[in-house]
Amino acid sequence: MLMNKTESALINSPPRRWLQRWYEVPWLRRLGGSLPTGAGVLEIGCGPGYGTRLILEQFGAAHVDAIDLDPAMIARARRRLAPFGDRVRLEVGDAAALRTVADAGYDAVFDFAIIHHIPDWRSAVGEVARVLRPGGRFYFDEVTASALARPSYRRLFDHPVHDRFTADEFRIELERHGFEVGDRFLTRVSGDYFLGVAERR
Ligand SMILES: C[S@@+](CC[C@H](N)C(=O)[O-])C[C@H]1O[C@@H](n2cnc3c(N)ncnc32)[C@H](O)[C@@H]1O
Repeated sequence: MLMNKTESALINSPPRRWLQRWYEVPWLRRLGGSLPTGAGVLEIGCGPGYGTRLILEQFGAAHVDAIDLDPAMIARARRRLAPFGDRVRLEVGDAAALRTVADAGYDAVFDFAIIHHIPDWRSAVGEVARVLRPGGRFYFDEVTASALARPSYRRLFDHPVHDRFTADEFRIELERHGFEVGDRFLTRVSGDYFLGVAERR
């Protein structure tokens, strides 16, 4: 589901970039480390592309394929990421149905707060598992059912309302698709948010 105007403005704002750079990325690096030399990465739901830049600069990805359902976000990301040239490929696409992406083609997949936007979120987790090579890593940062049910969230933003997930439900789904999570998983703010790194068996 696409973001509404309020959420688009928030996602395109300096506070969002600050949070991603100074909180989410340091935690994800602590939990999962940097990427192997030459790593090829898929980022789902890249939004305006700031996370893509951090994947290149801070995790050391060699190249990133980044997709988003919203053509306006892809246009923004294209402008932001132009200096990286052919290390980045951007495309409109649906993370729940990565039709043109081959099996086991990536060393890592990143999800910065997008799977909670997908009505069939289980298919998105299945697609992440399919496109990762064995031993590949899934870095995720997500918003749970309890946050989405809060009056403030419901008033300000548009999200799917049925079948959202708790941190435990997300973790179970990861394990069902052949991921190992172990202790690289943190919940935050009374279970409203979580982040972690899972390894494809
Ligand atoms: C909350 S924003 C996060 C954007 C960016 N990753 C960030 O952290 O700033 C969610 C993004 O997911 C995109 N999105 C929603 N459903 C999607 C889907 N099925 N496939 C790909 N992208 C999707 C939206 O267009 C939006 O850009």
